[in-house]
Amino acid sequence: MAKRIGLLTGGGDAPGLNAVIRAVVTSGIQKGYEMVGFLRGWKGPLEGQTVTLGIKDVYDIHRQGGTILKSSRTNPFKVENGPEKIFENLQKQDIYCLVAIGGDDTLGVAQKLHEMGMRVVGVPKTIDNDVNATDFTFGFDTAVNIDMESLDRLHTTASSHERVMVVEIMGRNAGWIALNSGIAGGAHFILVPEYPFPLDELCEKIKKRYEGGERYAIVVVAEGFKDEALDKYMKFEEKDAFGHVVLSKGMGIGQALAKHIEEETGCESRYMVMGHLQRGGTPFAFDRVLGTRFGLKAIELVEKEEFGYMVSLRGDESFKVPLTDALGTLKKVPAERYEEIKIFFG
Ligand code: F6P
Repeated sequence: MAKRIGLLTGGGDAPGLNAVIRAVVTSGIQKGYEMVGFLRGWKGPLEGQTVTLGIKDVYDIHRQGGTILKSSRTNPFKVENGPEKIFENLQKQDIYCLVAIGGDDTLGVAQKLHEMGMRVVGVPKTIDNDVNATDFTFGFDTAVNIDMESLDRLHTTASSHERVMVVEIMGRNAGWIALNSGIAGGAHFILVPEYPFPLDELCEKIKKRYEGGERYAIVVVAEGFKDEALDKYMKFEEKDAFGHVVLSKGMGIGQALAKHIEEETGCESRYMVMGHLQRGGTPFAFDRVLGTRFGLKAIELVEKEEFGYMVSLRGDESFKVPLTDALGTLKKVPAERYEEIKIFFG
């Protein structure tokens, strides 16, 4: 009888998820496994929500954004007897191994369940690109391109109205998307969560731009950037099941910073939150290809019985790394990468 492999996608969606699903399912079936999709992240195994996946179900889906398996931020360790219920449901479904596609939170759950005896293989995912032990996660490149295109467009309207345009970009703990899209889209200032940037210096430099005749500015700020002076404007009310403040719901850093800049410089300011536009829609080529390669590698790990590992990209090679290497700490923008780009600020 064919061994059954379960598959789930958890956390925020990312363009490229369907490419992983297609590759896992197609390769898995060709290698003699049966594939079972668990719906809505960890909610699927928790509540026994499944769908059978055949090659026809995933044909061509790598071109679509989102995830056909749906997603959620369910944390089974916050549910009474959550892990036990998962083991029970996997047994009912006769699941041999689970392929978990997700970021730090989803993979953290996978690792804990692995320690409790479950066969798991991880696939790293997040548009934020902050999962450790892999050079890239899929979804990041698409997000950067969407932001770059938007920044290109914002230059003309900001310039026409002689305004400061503050653009809030996703990145709760790491400023990868802000940094790369800011560089590519010609932002005049980029603020990231990893490093402080004195707001008086920012305002001074903006005033200098105006005095020098460049009477507009584009300021990119990652949603996780912090400065005490902005706290009074910000308001968040909710936390998710993993204890993170829901930054995409509330009054965020973009709005606060635009207000501060206008007050301190006298320059008319507007803010724009790129938000979920960065996660939606069709993946760019890089993410379709990376997702495909990660999916193929995941099945290779299942075949070799390399459980407790995650697929990863190093240079142009796909590798396996222990899940424990990827978890706990996030991959941050190195100080020198941020410093070197400051010559373009102003
Ligand atoms: O998945 C990462 C991420 O895109 C973060 O950059 C952002 O803070 C968060 O998801 C938003 O999540 P949600 O869609 O649940 O509000």
